[in-house]
Amino acid sequence: MTREEALDSIKANVENGNLIKHMLATEAIMRALAIRLGEDEEEWGITGLLHDIDMELTEGDMNIHSKLGADLARELGANETMAHAILCHNETHGVPRETKLDKALFCADPLTGLIIAAALVRPDKKLAGLEARSVRKKFKEKSFAAGVDRDQISLCSQIGFELGEFIELGVEAMKGIAAALGL
Ligand SMILES: [Fe+2]
Repeated sequence: MTREEALDSIKANVENGNLIKHMLATEAIMRALAIRLGEDEEEWGITGLLHDIDMELTEGDMNIHSKLGADLARELGANETMAHAILCHNETHGVPRETKLDKALFCADPLTGLIIAAALVRPDKKLAGLEARSVRKKFKEKSFAAGVDRDQISLCSQIGFELGEFIELGVEAMKGIAAALGL
């Protein structure tokens, strides 16, 4: 599957623009992680891009979410490594995270929300001037974007990242697609 095919499928299955932006942001971070770790950039990027493709189809039912997503990804041509990462990013199913891709997707997913929230409280609401250290501060403020799971982001340690460098990589990756994110 090409990236375009993955994106077309997302647009066919997801109406919420913010959800699409979340998946684009996850893709950008996953690509940056793959490059840094010497992994397959397309595989990691497309996994990030597709990971919540079923969110609207499953209407938020966490018992189905990501099972359907993994099936849809397989139908599109994703390999089992990619499908597994999508499946286990929802902990409800109790499927352990085994591969580096599984672990990377799990910690990259919530990082997008923290960075978007940090950009939106800036006077210009733009990513361009956002510094990683300010996101780091927001990370420590538990009341800021309280829905963002800090423990989940901290699992970046399982793919060999310190929190600070992980946040920095995420900020830089998302800056690279700021226009697509409307930020
Ligand atoms: Fe997600």
